[in-house]
Amino acid sequence: MPQLSRRIGRAKPSAIMVIAEKAKRLKAEGRDVISFSIGVPNFLPGEHVYQAVREALDNDSGQYGSNRGADAMLDAFLGHLEGLGLTGYTKANLATGVGAKQVLYNLAEALLDDGDTIAFPTPYWTSYLDIAEIVDAKVELLPCPPEQDYKLTPAQLDAALAKKPRVLLFNNPSNPTGMVYTRDEISALADVIAKYPDTWVITDDIYNKMVFDGVGYHNFVHARPELRDRVIFVDSLSKTYGMPGWRVGFMAGPEEVARAVVTLNSNHITSLPEMTSAAAAAALAGPQDVPEAKCAEFQAKRDQVMDVLASIEGVVCPRPQGAFYVFPDVSCAFGRTHGPSGKAIGNDVELCSVLLEEKGVACVPGSAFGEPRSLRISYTCPTPQLMPGMERIREFFNELS
Ligand SMILES: Cc1ncc(COP(=O)(O)O)c(C=O)c1O
Repeated sequence: MPQLSRRIGRAKPSAIMVIAEKAKRLKAEGRDVISFSIGVPNFLPGEHVYQAVREALDNDSGQYGSNRGADAMLDAFLGHLEGLGLTGYTKANLATGVGAKQVLYNLAEALLDDGDTIAFPTPYWTSYLDIAEIVDAKVELLPCPPEQDYKLTPAQLDAALAKKPRVLLFNNPSNPTGMVYTRDEISALADVIAKYPDTWVITDDIYNKMVFDGVGYHNFVHARPELRDRVIFVDSLSKTYGMPGWRVGFMAGPEEVARAVVTLNSNHITSLPEMTSAAAAAALAGPQDVPEAKCAEFQAKRDQVMDVLASIEGVVCPRPQGAFYVFPDVSCAFGRTHGPSGKAIGNDVELCSVLLEEKGVACVPGSAFGEPRSLRISYTCPTPQLMPGMERIREFFNELS
């Protein structure tokens, strides 16, 4: 048989999907499983989104669309950017993709040559590493442990940018930690970025509408508008609009970068489908009551989850202020044994595995995100499952000896 490319040898299936598949299998075997594993929002967009799609169907042109994105969708995205305080962009600054994941992949293709360095903080969203490896970039990880609330410091950033990576990839609010940078923190990091003009900065901020406690969403461009010629803002409808399956992602940045992504689109996907584009325009330009209500609901769920975690001895969890994840440090369990089953817990992967087998709760090991002391809880499950799932986690830790 002929060989596959070396590139595909570097691509790995998602670690999150491995746990999700195991949870699915146990469920199919009749086990009572509560899933805190996949990062899905678990809600649907408002009726106006479906209505827009019905109308689009009635007027279906059956044609290929624009490589950049449908006009109405781009206009709606420009309005959304203005709502976030990101003003002064035109359609020439925009590009779209089949989800933020494809936009990020295209950006990696557009900005990185073989062997160029991409730097990003740890914990990171799993696909950052996989995408970097596929395009053969060198990865520089910037460790941000729980002791520093999983956040990058200006000193760390300074040291990293002094090495002139081609790209800095930054994620706020964070998956997997849920941490959100304050205005002052973003401003201090932006001051450092301003000193290093050779580095592109991608801000993957797809959870920007899921921010709690009045902290607000802040971007380097808010702090220093002149960074607009190097900062590329990435967004998506997946999480904040409850539309992961619609596969819509965006970028706003320098015209050359947007043009490069449009060129890649013209060779990969051609365009987003007409129906999807109509849905995206309606979601962004229409009533915002669904995302707003969900944000309030997630904040309340965050509080409930944090209350349980705070009651477990040895578990330490920086308080998240956005997205829908918590990322507790559970290393207190390592080297111990789960009493009732006699199973030993050596690390995060074993912990998640025993927790799933013995308590029917699926969480993702932190090592999938580059932080093996922790695990990720995604708390968007139906409300009646949330506290029973958290109680099982508390019980599990109480049973360790
Ligand atoms: C931080 C982050 N960026 C990007 C994505 C990809 O989103 P999309 O569904 O738009 O491809 C995800 C999805 O989990 C994410 O958490």
